[in-house]
Amino acid sequence: MTTSDSGSQSMTPAASGSAPFQWPSSAKATSGARGEALLAGIGNTPLLPLDALTRDLHHDLPTLELWGKAEWYNPGGSVKDRAAARIVFEARRAGKLTPGKILLDSTSGNTGIAYAMLGAALGFPVTLCVPENISPERKRILQAYGANIIYTDPAEGSDGALKIAHQYAERHPDLYFYADQYSNDANWRAHYETTANEIWQQTLGRITHFVAMLGTTGTFVGTTRRLKELNPTIRCISLQPDSAFHGIEGAKQGLLVGVSAAAAVVGSLQVVEHLKKDQRAIIVTILADSGEKYLSERFWNEE
Ligand SMILES: Cc1ncc(COP(=O)(O)O)c(C=O)c1O
Repeated sequence: MTTSDSGSQSMTPAASGSAPFQWPSSAKATSGARGEALLAGIGNTPLLPLDALTRDLHHDLPTLELWGKAEWYNPGGSVKDRAAARIVFEARRAGKLTPGKILLDSTSGNTGIAYAMLGAALGFPVTLCVPENISPERKRILQAYGANIIYTDPAEGSDGALKIAHQYAERHPDLYFYADQYSNDANWRAHYETTANEIWQQTLGRITHFVAMLGTTGTFVGTTRRLKELNPTIRCISLQPDSAFHGIEGAKQGLLVGVSAAAAVVGSLQVVEHLKKDQRAIIVTILADSGEKYLSERFWNEE
């Protein structure tokens, strides 16, 4: 696993304290009852203590707490509900996702599930470019929500799916609203406005370290920007796997978490190893989704 620490970056401190995010009334008014309930259900996920994992570590530290933000409590089952909802809301507000247009994006699963769920609830069609080798669970969920799926070369991974989505968007600009989660600012802004403020409130402003996995980088960038405004001394550490993960470590705590959540926990424990003797550490990490969508993965049968 490679880590990078943005603790030394300087960002402008802003007023401390933060109000919980509220969807504007225009979002509620245009969403219908089901859409409104869905939007209201996104975010405000529990922060769970992962004390079973830290219990035997570093008794010489004055304070050591590890917390996981349980993002599978979102209605679509992952952290990506936040970004997808914000992308959809802003596109509708800006007149880009108008009736008759199809939302198009590339995804390896969770964002697609969120778009498909929102499309079914709010009444817009969704087309997703997805690497062919995503897990069968993800394929079935996307199908169940009625998304149109364009499978892309598994050997090319997310880059291949992104390339095909670009091509479709360029060829048919009148047909599609291209959501482009990789470059859409609504992605990181969702976390700036919701995830960071929730963490701040849930830790009563005590958080000292934030650890997150990178996909599109929306979660890390948005959460970090806001946390650094609230307290510039918070260390923010991003993680990228440098090899495949084997096993789902978070299960030790009685939580069946997904692969990236397990990696985030492993990364957080690496942060613990590097703490100084007298350092206070209240570490928060993102548990992006649960393990249920990975139960058919091959690694369960590997040594
Ligand atoms: C399971 C999981 N974890 C982490 C991430 C990373 O989130 P982000 O795209 O905000 O960097 C993703 C993104 O798709 C994901 O699906």
